[in-house]
Amino acid sequence: MAFTVAIDGPAAAGKGTVARALAVRFGLRHLDTGLLYRAVAAKGGDPVAAARGLSEADLERPGLRSNAAGQAASKVAAIPEVRAALTEFQRRFARQDGGAVLDGRDIGTVICPEAEVKLFVTASPQVRAERRWRELGGDLAEVLADVEARDRRDSERAVSPLRAAEGALVLDTSEMTIDEAVARASEAVLRALPSAPGALPPDPQDI
Ligand code: DC
Repeated sequence: MAFTVAIDGPAAAGKGTVARALAVRFGLRHLDTGLLYRAVAAKGGDPVAAARGLSEADLERPGLRSNAAGQAASKVAAIPEVRAALTEFQRRFARQDGGAVLDGRDIGTVICPEAEVKLFVTASPQVRAERRWRELGGDLAEVLADVEARDRRDSERAVSPLRAAEGALVLDTSEMTIDEAVARASEAVLRALPSAPGALPPDPQDI
């Protein structure tokens, strides 16, 4: 049975952490789609050819989690042919038997609008910059400028810009602990899985 949790949001909002926690709790396969764009950029050369020939080994290249790799990914992600080359793989992953959780920028809007659960995980640019800075170090003002530049590029591009999908539950994690964010996201999954043990009644807002 296909069951998809689509998680979108800007850099360092906590999407990856929430996605990994949901995958473990509900036994879903997880795909960090940002890694695909990071790997395309890191391959160098023609990004369209890199996207068409992307392999598992490319996803294991060292340094893909760095800030520089994220900036480079955001640039190749604005190329329509790069996005098109990665779409089919993501769609198949999303609808596989047993269920999947994908996190990225366009999962609920473009890759899997039919996802059973859609989340938009966000936080203020300041909070996100501080999180990245604690994780990767460097100069805080520069990290904030990078976060803002990436937000602009990801939100203003013509193809698949970052935005909340229709019907997505918005989780602003600026003032939340990770446990709170995971608890809210888990409730949304339980609501969509009516036969799951411990399933919650429907949200009164949905009735
Ligand atoms: O989530 P991340 O920081 O690893 O993503 C790196 C970049 O890849 C991000 O700035 C924009 C791009 N991206 C995208 O355009 N669409 C996705 N589904 C995932 C990432």
